[in-house]
Amino acid sequence: MSPERVPLCLDLLPALRGEDTTKSFFQELVNILLSYVCKSFRRSSKVLDFHHPHQLREGLEGFSLELPDQPENLEQLLVDCRDTLKYGVKTGTVRAVDCFAENVPKMYYRFTYEVSPVFILMEEILLRKMQEIVGWSEEEGDGVFCPGGTMSNLYSVLLARYHFFPEVKTKGMTALPRLILFTSAHSHYSVKKSAAVLGIGSDNVVVVKCNDRGKMITAELESSIITAKDQGCVPFYVNATAGTTVYGAFDPLNAIADICESHGLWLHVDVFTLYSALIGSYMQVYLNYVYYRAWSVTWNPHKMMGAPLQCSAILVKKRGLLKDCNQMCAEYLFQTDKHYDTSYDTGDKTIQCGRHVDVFKLWLMWKAKGSEGFESQVNKCLENAEHLFDKLKQRPDFELVFKSEPEHSNVCFWYIPPSLRNMSPGPERNRRLHEVAPKIKAKMMEQGMAMIGYQPLGDKVNFFRCVFSNPATQTEDVDYLLEEIASLGHDICIRTETDL
Ligand SMILES: Cc1ncc(COP(=O)(O)O)c(C=O)c1O
Repeated sequence: MSPERVPLCLDLLPALRGEDTTKSFFQELVNILLSYVCKSFRRSSKVLDFHHPHQLREGLEGFSLELPDQPENLEQLLVDCRDTLKYGVKTGTVRAVDCFAENVPKMYYRFTYEVSPVFILMEEILLRKMQEIVGWSEEEGDGVFCPGGTMSNLYSVLLARYHFFPEVKTKGMTALPRLILFTSAHSHYSVKKSAAVLGIGSDNVVVVKCNDRGKMITAELESSIITAKDQGCVPFYVNATAGTTVYGAFDPLNAIADICESHGLWLHVDVFTLYSALIGSYMQVYLNYVYYRAWSVTWNPHKMMGAPLQCSAILVKKRGLLKDCNQMCAEYLFQTDKHYDTSYDTGDKTIQCGRHVDVFKLWLMWKAKGSEGFESQVNKCLENAEHLFDKLKQRPDFELVFKSEPEHSNVCFWYIPPSLRNMSPGPERNRRLHEVAPKIKAKMMEQGMAMIGYQPLGDKVNFFRCVFSNPATQTEDVDYLLEEIASLGHDICIRTETDL
């Protein structure tokens, strides 16, 4: 780093020789937090420095909430942190005796503008940016941050049901016909769980078959919809996945959207991470992905964008639906005679009351990396996946679960021990191969130098699944992982060959 350049977050660890910059940045952050905590407990401190939403939105004394394309430098990030605390409510102050009162300064309680002015605006700005990326128009789009992709998927089913059957809010499921929803065999289990939690029932989730690559077969979807209708049931919702959990497969969204349109069904898209899908320029497959056709989208910044758990958003195309579906108008929080624009009291859109501040992490990361930083971070993960795929293709001791190029950062493979290399395919080989990955994983955990998941899927016996989400991982780490698996696998096979 040249002496005159102000450091950026790229200069923090894991950057080469990044220790000193990281240390002084963290020390400065601790100083800011300490001074905030001390100030909070001083009787002379103001609880809040009130400004109307439009004033904060316009940027007070240079405090801009807007999300940059280019990264901000570390000095500016510290200013952003100071300003966030300055314009927020000091919930730990001794004279804060409203419903948000706390005995320590904390960053949550996000139901109204009055208690969370800065975070409510950050959420609005982040959601608007995300909706723009999805491709919805200015008039469309709503959303909330929620605790994880599972909860976001749950919201999508809740909203779809309310959209078609608003009476469910007051009358419950007894007033409704037998509802059916559709999701692929490779989709995340949270869709079934949502049906169970919401009283629809997991038996009323039709699991649509996938092709060898793990993508939903659209002809199967259409025929399942017709069968459900013939049986007197009411199909209402389809979940498509963009980046399935195990294979990282992308369902054919356009064709699924056509089917949903012709049958009048809600289309939800569960996206591993939309950022990779939309601006990850590295993989062609993402470029023509038509997210704007979705009625709702789950976006998980805590996956490949690298936000610390938990940070997920449910985005909804129809504005106002979240509020209509969930609002209960509790009078101790959502008074309509407040002196500011109460449309910023967004808490009643959610199924929670108080919420953790998940938006701040993402907002600060966006400032630190800029849109371009996220893009290159995601591309790095995709490059690693491609590197692993290329290596696996060349090695006789490994076998790919599917031969086509990875569409995402997931790569699935078997290690083939020497004793199985010349065995012809069949049940006996499968039985033995099934035991290999757990044994290698157990050894790996005992040694503690690397970690990788494994699972069976459908007719495929236990295989390893590598999902790259840490941009600090280098190709040399990928090579190390392969060598580690090969050496542990070789070892295991020599010592337990008769068992295998
Ligand atoms: C495609 C997909 N959707 C939803 C989820 C659930 O996300 P969370 O763990 O944030 O609840 C996952 C988790 O791996 C996933 O892969």
